[in-house]
Amino acid sequence: NVPADFINGLPKAELHVHIEGTLEPELLFELAKRNKIDLKYPTVEALKEAYSFSRLQDFLDIYYEGANVLQTEQDFYDLTWAYLQKAKEQGIVHTEIFFDPQTHTSRGIELGVVVTGIHRALDDGREQLGITSKLIMCFLRHMVELSAFKTLEDALPYRHLIYAVGLDSSEKGNPPSKFLDVFLKAKAEGFRLVAHAGEEGPEDYIREAIDLLRVDRIDHGNASIQDDHLVEVLKQRQIPLTLCPLSNKALKVVTNLEEHPLKKMLHKGLLVTVNSDDPAYFGGYINENYEAVSNALLLSKDELAQLAKNSFEGSFLTPDEKQKYL
Ligand code: ADE
Ligand code: ZN
Repeated sequence: NVPADFINGLPKAELHVHIEGTLEPELLFELAKRNKIDLKYPTVEALKEAYSFSRLQDFLDIYYEGANVLQTEQDFYDLTWAYLQKAKEQGIVHTEIFFDPQTHTSRGIELGVVVTGIHRALDDGREQLGITSKLIMCFLRHMVELSAFKTLEDALPYRHLIYAVGLDSSEKGNPPSKFLDVFLKAKAEGFRLVAHAGEEGPEDYIREAIDLLRVDRIDHGNASIQDDHLVEVLKQRQIPLTLCPLSNKALKVVTNLEEHPLKKMLHKGLLVTVNSDDPAYFGGYINENYEAVSNALLLSKDELAQLAKNSFEGSFLTPDEKQKYL
């Protein structure tokens, strides 16, 4: 086994982490108390016991419920700051963070509260921790496209703080094509584009995300391995895949990590990266994800270093900014 300190010592970028998914049970309880919100669970331990999932939707139900404790700008600051401190401990030097505006605006929290709170923490992270960052706003794909259009409109005053647009939530039955028009609009507004695809959904959704939405990278993309032609496209165009091994295990996308496609993908020449997705719910931050796949797939130091390099190559940093890490 490759020692944990080797993984910890690799400078890394994280390209797939939902800020709402970094809400640790302890902070969740603290915020519930601060905001005088009654929780269904009497203790942190009881809440943690509910973190047992058979599929993506089981997790999403609990994750959206957890997000209800986030109310004020300070709450979003505290959430983001806690993640950044963890990122610092684990050798992350650059992070591209998702947030889900509709999860908050649908309960009456203004988009400005969310963006400002997160952004203030990212600024402090840059100054005090030396971590650079970008923000990615995700549309919830279980909602109608009109709601995504409204979200895009609401976001325009914060255009300078949001780098890219993404697509997440319940994948099956909600193909990328459902969001073609709003992605075209986002692109016209100058946003870069990403989308979750081929996590629980079919390889077809990955093809749609690439050919129709014209995304810059695919979040997850596990299902691509089932289609040789798609693998060839991903390879030729070096479209990054942001893999999340512990998430896949927790949500039963793979039965065990020994069956995870990461190593095969790496050997086929795909630009794969390792990420934590929702670390507070899936039992580990980025290093635990590297360690888990490394142990399950017997990755060498060279392979682990390649994955860390890929994280910069696949990032939205400029070629000049990437240079020092490659
Ligand atoms: N939202 C947060 N985590 C997600 C995941 N793994 N898939 C889809 N939507 C999500
Ligand atoms: Zn995700």
